[in-house]
Amino acid sequence: MIEQRRADGSLRHLITLDSLRRDEIESLLLRSQHFARAIGERPPSASTLQGVTIANLFTEPSTRTRVSFELAGRRLGAEVVNLEVQLSSRVKGESMLDTIFTLQALHFDVFVIRDAEPGVLSHVASHVAPGVSVLSAGEAHLSHPTQGLLDALTIRQHKGDIEPLSIAIVGDIRHSRVARSAFQVFRILQAREIRIVAPPALMPEPSEFTGCPRFETLEQGLEGVDVIMMLRIQKERLADTKMPDGEEYFARYGLTSARLARAHPQAIVMHPQPMNRGIEIASDIADGPQSVIRSQVSNGVAVRMAVLETVAGALVS
Ligand code: NCD
Repeated sequence: MIEQRRADGSLRHLITLDSLRRDEIESLLLRSQHFARAIGERPPSASTLQGVTIANLFTEPSTRTRVSFELAGRRLGAEVVNLEVQLSSRVKGESMLDTIFTLQALHFDVFVIRDAEPGVLSHVASHVAPGVSVLSAGEAHLSHPTQGLLDALTIRQHKGDIEPLSIAIVGDIRHSRVARSAFQVFRILQAREIRIVAPPALMPEPSEFTGCPRFETLEQGLEGVDVIMMLRIQKERLADTKMPDGEEYFARYGLTSARLARAHPQAIVMHPQPMNRGIEIASDIADGPQSVIRSQVSNGVAVRMAVLETVAGALVS
């Protein structure tokens, strides 16, 4: 794994949350809270990153993550350019690095990358010039660090300190980068319990999510929990896994009001989106009083402002 920090200890790249210390996570969350605004309020704006140029390189579909990285950069005064480039298929050849070096010659300071191939992020980060930062916007099934941070921020806003909480991550955990980054950040923040709830085919390998109680039914997995994180089935990563169809999945693993009633009465319901109503979650729950799904979206911009400022602030100061 590539070193994410500079020689002075400051954060330069963000590719995984796994190697971050608790105080680094805490300071990113504190700064994110500074930028967070309730829905309907005016967003914050600053000129902290004036003169910084950010490239969004997304080779997998994205709505929220790309738009929120773009808004985050602009709201800090940076220039943001969205580029259509191929990365994965070129990973082993020099042409991928040619693309990166070309962009560097155009004075890009930050590359925000989403890609389906494991390793692309570290590969780019290990070849960029010393002043350039690489941020993950989602790497294969492995990692989605800004999503993990926004999930932690959302929980804190609604439930306070994460330490006493029991959190259930539900659905296609095996193929989910959202689940992996959530697990990492909740573990660093010392959540009391992180449960994983999934059909056997969508459970991760035993070597992953160590220490997490595993449940194959929602009825048991949701008993008494404070936070429920629902996940989409990652159809694009399933290959030959046999999966029940939507109706059958909903019958066994969909979050309905009857199942939600098993959780703590003040439990919150989360989903990173895109959401399949009627498959992993009932529509009335997604829009219901316990859902914090829309505040997750707003927090996405705040967290990405904090991360951009942290890695690129030093370039202009
Ligand atoms: C997720 C992703 O792309 O990993 N979406 C997101 O960034 N909010 C989740 C998903 O695609 O299911």
